[in-house]
Amino acid sequence: MTKGDPVISVRGLCKSFGENHVLRDFDLDVFRGENVMVLGKSGSGKSVLIKCIVGLLTPDKGRITVLGQEVHALDQQELDRLRVKIGFLFQSSALYDSMTVEENLEFPLRRHWMSTSKGETDALVDEVLTAVGLAHTRKMYPSELSGGMRRRIGLARTLILKPEIMLYDEPTTGLDPITGKEIVELILQLQRTYNTSSIIISHDLNVAKLAADRIALLYEGRNHLEGTYQELLASTDPVVRQFFIFM
Ligand SMILES: Nc1ncnc2c1ncn2[C@@H]1O[C@H](COP(=O)(O)OP(=O)(O)O)[C@@H](O)[C@H]1O
Ligand SMILES: [Mg+2]
Repeated sequence: MTKGDPVISVRGLCKSFGENHVLRDFDLDVFRGENVMVLGKSGSGKSVLIKCIVGLLTPDKGRITVLGQEVHALDQQELDRLRVKIGFLFQSSALYDSMTVEENLEFPLRRHWMSTSKGETDALVDEVLTAVGLAHTRKMYPSELSGGMRRRIGLARTLILKPEIMLYDEPTTGLDPITGKEIVELILQLQRTYNTSSIIISHDLNVAKLAADRIALLYEGRNHLEGTYQELLASTDPVVRQFFIFM
């Protein structure tokens, strides 16, 4: 079986902030339907990588293609069109407190000028709320929900645009381990339902164990090595071992 062309390809990515050389020749490929995890300690450049991939930051050097398009060669309109196909769940992607769950979910449709009828919008809201197991929260406000539920709604809000690619930045950070595990299981379930390709950025080895088809270790700005969780677990590489100090 051939994997086909990667849906995301990062080559020789360099990004510095002054003297802080965060990414130094970073490479990564993501193939269709894959869950790739980028594992790196805090401050290693994981969020910078994601922001370069979606065009929120401009690389100093290197080339990023997403769904066959070279991200940093696109004009704003082309970039907007590409971004509709990319869902992201950032730690900072908060819900609007003054809007109900339903209104929060409809927001991306309006922002991207999707011309859906009232009936279509209602059906989409139903679908994504059911997908994240929260159909009963439709008329509730974010303040009435737990942290785990809010993150699920954040995920539903992203899903409403039917993205081909999902980018998760620290999806379990700030959640208790049980809620974190539920979010990871949900990510896997959504990947199967919608056949999305995903990058999950985290320092959480539990996420790696449960969700990653492949793990890329971001270390000193480079893709230090890649492997499955089992391969990393068995590795004697000192950089890999740092992540298993509690195991
Ligand atoms: N917009 C920015 N301006 C200056 N420095 C930044 C900016 N964004 C990130 N950095 C720096 O880049 C490094 C990597 O940050 P980040 O990607 O957020 O780390 P993490 O792996 O924890 O997500 C940090 O040293 C951070 O201070
Ligand atoms: Mg980060």
